Amino acid sequence: EAAEKGGYDHYMLKEIHEQPGALRQTLSGRVDEVAGDVDLDVDLSSEVLADVEEIQLVACGTSYHAGLYARRLLEEFADVRVTVEVASEYEFTGGRDPWETLVVAVTQSGETADTLSAMRKAAKAGARTLAVTNTVGSTAAREADDALYIRAGPEIGVAATKTFAAQVTALSLLTVHIGRRRGALSSERASNLLENLRGLPGAVQQLLDASERLEAVASEYVDEDAYFFVGRKLGAAVALEGALKLKEIAYVHAEGFPSGELKHGTLALVTEDTPVLTVLTEGARPKETLNNVKEVESRGAPVIGFSSYDAAANYLDVEIPIPDLGALEPLVANVGLQLFAYHVANELGRAIDKPRNLAKSVTVE
Ligand code: G6P
Repeated sequence: EAAEKGGYDHYMLKEIHEQPGALRQTLSGRVDEVAGDVDLDVDLSSEVLADVEEIQLVACGTSYHAGLYARRLLEEFADVRVTVEVASEYEFTGGRDPWETLVVAVTQSGETADTLSAMRKAAKAGARTLAVTNTVGSTAAREADDALYIRAGPEIGVAATKTFAAQVTALSLLTVHIGRRRGALSSERASNLLENLRGLPGAVQQLLDASERLEAVASEYVDEDAYFFVGRKLGAAVALEGALKLKEIAYVHAEGFPSGELKHGTLALVTEDTPVLTVLTEGARPKETLNNVKEVESRGAPVIGFSSYDAAANYLDVEIPIPDLGALEPLVANVGLQLFAYHVANELGRAIDKPRNLAKSVTVE
């Protein structure tokens, strides 16, 4: 087993570090930056997509957070109406013609019972379905009209890490595919997004190179009452994911939410013993998020910022710089949140790869 972990103490840490390679695989052979287009092996032609009025993303857990990220990308770059729903809450509400709805099931394993059941509900009503999955031949891949593989390679750690990054990357490619075919995305804007995608593995590597710094930050803030994760827009999706990682593997109370909601409740819980982790990057409305950061900073909470926003520096106790990468900056920040969660859990001596009460794939509803 030690050999399989490739010198790392845990599969999770190995998989966090595998992200640059995994993302290269997700992108491999699919990007034409010059033409500003992608080549995905899916049956979603311009004719089919012209009829699509709404895209519904259904997923659970980490995959749901990838769906939240993708919603904003699809809205912004493909100009299409999108809903995201936790699969166990999903009820199909399609247009007059069910084919007007494209239901995208996001599932690493392709076997999550709630997600399969949502997908079946949609298919039964006549909607077109697409599975975005890591697992070739999985039930979701076989049952959906189409499958888009994220190609992250096997993930052993129960807490999803590299598969989240690969899901968001694959969904970014899907965004370009849909945006171009619906005539909503110019080749210039597409090229720009694709250039950022090409830069993603290198940017993730930069965060990984700061791993020791995050280990030190984790050991400084290991013993606190609670942890809050905040951001806006794409940063809100990542905030939810950062909190989930910490809960899953460290067993400490953590909450993630859009930073604008702080003042509507959680601010009452903020003290000098509740670190606030925040995403202050492009795609995460850093100016507005900084206003919320000031609210917690003035109440003495330590603020850990994953930031490409210079104006924030004075308000942060810890600043982790995020390289320029447009709409993918929050995804890079997420790698820092993964490392933070890992090192907190490690300090606490938790069973990181097999957290109590949790399973890699949940096959009951
Ligand atoms: C379980 C795992 C999570 C995962 C979720 C959805 O709860 O522990 O890491 O995000 O299932 O799994 P899926 O395979 O559908 O992405």
